[in-house]
Formats: sequence, C-alpha cells, structure tokens
Amino acid sequence: MWRILIVGVVNTMTVHVPEYIERLVGQIYEINKLSEQGCTSEVRKILAASGTYLLKSSFDNRYREWLKMEALVLEKLSNQHAIPVPRYYGFFEDDKSSHLIMSFEKGMTLTKALKNAKNRDEKLTLIRSFGQFLHQLHETELPESLNRENDWLEEQLIRAEKYVRRGQTEGSQQLLEQLQSNKPLPVRQTLIHGDCTTDNVLVVDGKVSLFIDVSGMAVGDPRYDESLAIGCFVNEPKCVEVFYQGYQRYRIKKEEYQYFNEGLYEFF
Ligand SMILES: Nc1ncnc2c1ncn2[C@@H]1O[C@H](COP(=O)(O)OP(=O)(O)OP(=O)(O)O)[C@@H](O)[C@H]1O
Ligand SMILES: [Mg+2]
Repeated sequence: MWRILIVGVVNTMTVHVPEYIERLVGQIYEINKLSEQGCTSEVRKILAASGTYLLKSSFDNRYREWLKMEALVLEKLSNQHAIPVPRYYGFFEDDKSSHLIMSFEKGMTLTKALKNAKNRDEKLTLIRSFGQFLHQLHETELPESLNRENDWLEEQLIRAEKYVRRGQTEGSQQLLEQLQSNKPLPVRQTLIHGDCTTDNVLVVDGKVSLFIDVSGMAVGDPRYDESLAIGCFVNEPKCVEVFYQGYQRYRIKKEEYQYFNEGLYEFF
C-alpha cells in the first residue's frame, strides 16, 4: 500500500486537496514541488497509478482568476491536437486556493534551455525554432471555442484599467491613458498565446514543442506575442534575425514593440 507523500509546503495546501486530486486521477503515490517555479503559482508533479500530472495552484485572488482562465482554455482545447498544450484533467477551488490539474509534459522551458545551451549555434537554433513554433500558432485555423465578439486589445485595456483601479499592477494610470489614445493600427487577428515569453514554452529534443501557462490564449493581436517572444534578446541583432528566419509572417516595427512589450505588458 502506497502512502501519499506531499513533500515540501503542506501548509499552503489545504488538507482536502489530495482527496480532490484522487477523485480526478485515482490513487496518488507522490506529490513533489518542482524545482522550477513560476511567479504566480506553485507547481507540483503528481505521480499517480494512472500516470503523471502537473498540479498548478494559486492563492492570490488575481492569480486565482488567471488560473481559472487557464483551466477554461485547456478544457476548451481538450478535444483537439492542432495546438500543442498540456491535456486538461480538472480544476477545483476552495475559499483560499484554486488548483488546476493537467498532463505532466517532458522538456524544459526555453529560458532554461537557452541558459544550458553549450554554444552560440545551439542557442540560435533554439531561437529559430521558437520563431517557427509561434509562426505555426499564428497560422493555425481559429478554433471556434476560442472565438470572441469583442476586440482583443480593447478588452486588454479594460482589464488593465481594472487592475490600476484595484492597485494590482505596476503599470500607471498615465501609461494606460497613453495606450488608450495611441492604439496601433489594427492587423488581422490570429490565435495568440497571450504571454509568449521564453518561460512559457517547453523545449523537447532541442525544439520548442509545447505552450504552457495558457491563460491568455485567445483570438487576439499577434504582435503582442511577437513582442514578448523577442523581448529577452531584442538587443542582440543576430538572435532577432534567426527568430525571424522561423517567424516569417510579419516583422513588428519598433513602435509596435514598444506599445506591446514596454506598454501593455506592464499591466499583466
Ligand atoms: N504541464 C506541465 N508539465 C511539466 N512542467 C510544467 C507544466 N506546466 C508548467 N510546468 C513547469 O512549471 C513552471 C511554472 O509553470 P507556469 O509558467 O504555468 O506557472 P506560472 O506561475 O503561471 O508562471 P509565471 O506566472 O511566472 O509565468 C514552468 O516553468 C515549468 O517548469
Ligand atoms: Mg509562466
């Protein structure tokens, strides 16, 4: 008979959580906190009789809202294979915490893969692959389940305004007003990731292969993804060049990069 082992921070997890998880995945052998953690959640690997799962838990109200959005996206995408995301298994919450269970995927974040790259060529190959991967997403047929009626950018500005009002963001009222009155000319909307940094894609066998952290996945402005994607190497021309060898749809202008990466992103 296996004993459930919750290694690490039992105090942040209410005692009922393992019971809920067992209802979804069956008998649990072990739950371990991952060495690589995000900023807005706690992530744990669940080893169960039926397989391996990722438990993502949030405790702060704003992040709990995001986790619920992520659960909704994964659930909506659970019957398709065109968009590479983890498989959805369940979501539950109590008064203090929210929890999402998805498939545990192999690989490491692109941030880590870039750090581990043995030489410059390997780093450039990874960045090119990131460009290709994002290109594919933006060319994917729009899934009916993620379609929206309202304008994506308008919705983001409304969310940003809400966070400013509640004091939940680093972005200022002044910046928000600038963004509201200087919107870039619209482009054709595509499927987007919505937080497309090197932290939120996984690399398997040297190739960027999976999107994680998908709460913002929606039909929206592809320039937002592009800006966030190139953000960590924007001052290294060779890296930007190879990214665009992979991403061949459109190359954002400096003002667009600034609007999205140095503007809108400040609020999220
Ligand atoms: N399905 C998964 N399979 C395996 N590992 C995962 C999975 N989802 C997330 N991870 C791991 O957990 C870490 C945190 O995940 P995620 O980015 O979703 O959390 P987060 O708290 O929302 O991050 P942040 O707010 O910093 O963007 C990732 O860096 C990755 O190492
Ligand atoms: Mg993340």
